[in-house]
Amino acid sequence: MIVATTVEQVRAALPAANIGFIPTMGFLHEGHLSLIDAARETGANFIAVSIFVNPKQFGPNEDLASYPRDEARDKALLETKNVDLLFLPTVDVMYPPGAQTAVSAGAVAKPLEGERRPGHFDGVATVVLKLFNIIQPDIAVFGRKDAQQCAVIDRMVRDLDVPVKLVFSDTAREHDGLAMSSRNSYLSTDERTIAPALHRALRAGEEAITHGVHDVDAVETVMRRMIEETPGIEVDYLAVVDPETFLAPVDFRREVLVAGAVRVGRTRLIDNIRVQRPRS
Ligand code: PAJ
Repeated sequence: MIVATTVEQVRAALPAANIGFIPTMGFLHEGHLSLIDAARETGANFIAVSIFVNPKQFGPNEDLASYPRDEARDKALLETKNVDLLFLPTVDVMYPPGAQTAVSAGAVAKPLEGERRPGHFDGVATVVLKLFNIIQPDIAVFGRKDAQQCAVIDRMVRDLDVPVKLVFSDTAREHDGLAMSSRNSYLSTDERTIAPALHRALRAGEEAITHGVHDVDAVETVMRRMIEETPGIEVDYLAVVDPETFLAPVDFRREVLVAGAVRVGRTRLIDNIRVQRPRS
């Protein structure tokens, strides 16, 4: 595996074609590694992974300083997956002094996560576009765990004519349903037992929809009740949205998304389930 820390080193290492790219913020888990498999399945034969904890996507009161990092472990995991190139830039490489241009994500970035984390998706879109320009991948893989992020990147690629094929890959979960996340490492043993309640609530929402509850408020109430059964977990939002706009769905006969964010202690967790072709 080539480890590059500068744009020049990346450029020198790139082959002519079939580059599959997986951007990450590190502290890798099975969810991240499953994206590497998805890139290969889509035909990539040169796999590039980036690890960069992007300051521009963290709010002033968020966890930038405490975000978990373990470079040695991450490198070893990527070696086991036969990754060809690891890009590990510093903040100065990504944002050299004087840098001032950014991507403004559109309306899809405004509800749910965007409302709670102002500027977050502009920061995500900016760093992802820069990484695309540096690595010039043919295929880039993102996890559906961050569904709104997928929608923002999809919109950006279409709106700005970015020549990359996007692949969105399913959420990898622990045995009890908890979506894998680098932030799960913040959870204490007690909090870890509480955390799967988010997934259970989303499943209850999914079940309500597939059984014909096609009313946003009613589904949200079902999900909220499930969470309220579990002490120690606080709802940030629980919502039923259209997977493209992230606004209330216009048509329950098409795919809808049940999405939620909760706080367990100091840890903020998000998750979602796609409800495909619900019964009428
Ligand atoms: P990070 O949270 O490290 O996630 C990197 C990629 O892994 C994202 O596409 C994310 O959706 C995916 N991922 C995380 N947990 C997953 C899981 N349980 N199952 C499947 N995929 C999962 O998302 C980011 O970093 C950043 O915003 C980034 C895109 C790198 C821009 O800075």
